[in-house]
Amino acid sequence: MKHSLRAAVATGNTALLAGLLLATSCNPSASTEQNSGSSPTMTDSTQTVAAAPGAASFGKTQDGTEVQLYTLSNAHGLKVSITNYGGTITSLLVPDKAGKPGEVVLGFNSVSGYQSPEFLKSGPYFGALIGRYGNRIARGKFTLDGKEYTLAKNNGENTLHGGKKGFDKVVWQAEPGTSAEGQTLKLTYLSKDGEEGYPGNLRVTVVYTLTADDALKIDYSATTDKATPVNLTNHAYFNLSGGKDVLGHEVTIAADRYNVVDAGLIPTGELRPVKGTPFDFTTPHTIGERIAQVPGGYDHNWLLNQTTGLHPAATVYEPTTGRTMEVTTTEPGLQFYTGNFLDGTLKGANNQTYGKHAGFCMETQHFPDSPNQPTFPSTILKPGQTLQSSTVYKFGVRQ
Ligand code: BGC
Repeated sequence: MKHSLRAAVATGNTALLAGLLLATSCNPSASTEQNSGSSPTMTDSTQTVAAAPGAASFGKTQDGTEVQLYTLSNAHGLKVSITNYGGTITSLLVPDKAGKPGEVVLGFNSVSGYQSPEFLKSGPYFGALIGRYGNRIARGKFTLDGKEYTLAKNNGENTLHGGKKGFDKVVWQAEPGTSAEGQTLKLTYLSKDGEEGYPGNLRVTVVYTLTADDALKIDYSATTDKATPVNLTNHAYFNLSGGKDVLGHEVTIAADRYNVVDAGLIPTGELRPVKGTPFDFTTPHTIGERIAQVPGGYDHNWLLNQTTGLHPAATVYEPTTGRTMEVTTTEPGLQFYTGNFLDGTLKGANNQTYGKHAGFCMETQHFPDSPNQPTFPSTILKPGQTLQSSTVYKFGVRQ
């Protein structure tokens, strides 16, 4: 960080000041210099070191690579833990209406949970970064600039979430730090030309920020040296109830239309109005209210009404705990998935069983199978362009 506490005060930069104060209050070593002297004489280097989130070992991957767990916190008791294995959010503690922090995501407390045979077989992608292409590509094929590409298939005849070894299963370079908004974790990964069948060396950067105003912000960017499809998202399973299923959560989705899909969850191309259907979340409905009318449960992509800037995607409210979550994004679509395939085989960090509807995902993204659907917004990134995408999950309580 290039700013000093004094500079923030002098310029009246309140956001920066809040970030710096937050950072110093969160890390005991930050106060050393202030305690020993009569006036705060923080230097740039003490701020960087002092404010960065802490890291701890998260165990070794099956190929023997040591991976880390980084914990970002803010002054209101929010704490998010992220491992550089898959860039995975493993834990997110958020206060309820009584002010008591509790777990709001599904996850495990060591990397072995994410590499167990049961986890890999069922493939729920808990909390992971998803790429190179989030969601499905039909029959694992697409044609770009006249050339057909064949991808690794891992979902019947289709490719899901990047293929057999997507971004969720690789080790990212991690750099903990701070910004004016709060503590950050910057993750970078080079996806090589040909990886899982995709063209081009793709350099991806993801920055997680836990902000002073209780949001988990995810900023994605990417560049390539050959044209390639890219669709990046995060696959966190949220549960705001503190241990029950998510059917009582009240949801709104800022979308008047959704993508109709076939039996393999590939869009048919029809964009159907939600009005009069169980997909209408333009006003609040609990997840459970109409889920029985949707064969298999919700696992669909909604077309967000706004598509420019950071726009509303969804809100969630859990009446028993009072927790709220507000999702905004720069992406045009939202895959709302209600944990339909969870079957109780997986046990989480606190030994709780993850059964059907134990969590829901709000994966902000472009539409499924866009590389094969010319009428959908393009997901093709070309050399010289920089993909930039942001999603914010903001937490609060309603009394
Ligand atoms: C997909 C689901 C899939 C889940 C876990 C979601 O994004 O839409 O169909 O089961 O991810 O892989």
